[in-house]
Amino acid sequence: MTEVLFTNIAQFVTPKAGPQRGAAMRELAVIPDAALLVCDGLIAWVGSAKDAPRAEQTHDLGGVAVTPALIDPHTHAVWAGDRLGDFEARVEGVPYETILVRGGGIRSTMRATRQASLDELVALALPRLQALSASGAATIEIKSGYGLDFEAELRMLEAVRVLQTQTAADLRPTLLLHVPPEENRAGYVQEVCHSLIPRVAEGQLAEAVDVFCETEAFSVPETRAMLEAAHLHGLKLKLHADQFHAIGGTELACELAALSVDHLEASGEAQIRVLAASPTVATVLPGVTLHLGLPAAPARALIDAGACLALGTDLNPGSAPVFSIQLSLALGVRLNRLTPAEALTAATVNAAAALGLTDRGALSVGQRADFLALHSADWRDLAYTLGANPVQTVFIAGQEQYS
Ligand code: NIG
Ligand code: FE
Repeated sequence: MTEVLFTNIAQFVTPKAGPQRGAAMRELAVIPDAALLVCDGLIAWVGSAKDAPRAEQTHDLGGVAVTPALIDPHTHAVWAGDRLGDFEARVEGVPYETILVRGGGIRSTMRATRQASLDELVALALPRLQALSASGAATIEIKSGYGLDFEAELRMLEAVRVLQTQTAADLRPTLLLHVPPEENRAGYVQEVCHSLIPRVAEGQLAEAVDVFCETEAFSVPETRAMLEAAHLHGLKLKLHADQFHAIGGTELACELAALSVDHLEASGEAQIRVLAASPTVATVLPGVTLHLGLPAAPARALIDAGACLALGTDLNPGSAPVFSIQLSLALGVRLNRLTPAEALTAATVNAAAALGLTDRGALSVGQRADFLALHSADWRDLAYTLGANPVQTVFIAGQEQYS
């Protein structure tokens, strides 16, 4: 048994374990002058330094604030090529959806990604994941979705498997059906249901299936068919919905008890009501709001209505070149009107719930000892700082990993 007592914690902060909804998202436990005991990678005790138990080893954290490590529940971190031309066109006024309809955008990343080898995909993704982890992420979801043809989708998921051997952060793979082919989309959806999803489930290549449900991507009936096939094969469900148009994706996600529905920039009162009454997590992605100049998802209204809300980066080349989960948390406060406490809850326990994980996100006894030592003695610097990294060290299962 390895036992380490972490001492000299100026301020210890955590939400309660498990998904938090509505006003409970603001309820953090704050302990000044604290200590934390970790046994075999799990939290064994936490409290005031004066009451700390003895331990074989001690680790002095130097008088800083400690929070749970962050969880990024939504990334597209594996891709090849770039979208710098799209970026310039968008800045000059061409909308994201127009670029996609013209065969650019996601489709251009698909062309580049299909041509990349497994080794190339891994080499391109690794520094992105290192940047995300250094910003505080100990758990990172990664979607496929730039393959289109099945071999390329499977290669993306294989890349995540290889990346897991090269990263300390826990990587959670998701199969994403991103946009349909330009011809024979009905046949493609059938093949996804009867060939791709069963292969992914059998090979345990992904834990969840996600679909981009949007006017310029998959329709609600197509999305339903693929999510029902995923459910049949024991995979969890996620959805990209209401990014540009509220065409019914959020309602479908809640009906099928998806783990999360993500984006929500175009959600209105009907979608807020459905999410407030559902266990499905509402995941907002403030980096997209910033980068595409979209309206912000109605996170304030969702929390006030009682929903369970999470935050993610959406790290991808087209809509969110955001390599920091801490920046997403800080942007959630500015763009989505979360309080710092709500944002911390959204990027920890609620992000864990968006991945179906219950063993992390809070620093309570029995949870994984994934935590951050900040540079500062006040945890609110995590939500306050823009453009520098307030995270000094990321501990994963009690081990110092990124500093
Ligand atoms: O979550 N909107 C759909 N998919 C991604 C963007 C992918 C891309 O533009 O490459 C998103 O925003
Ligand atoms: Fe996304």
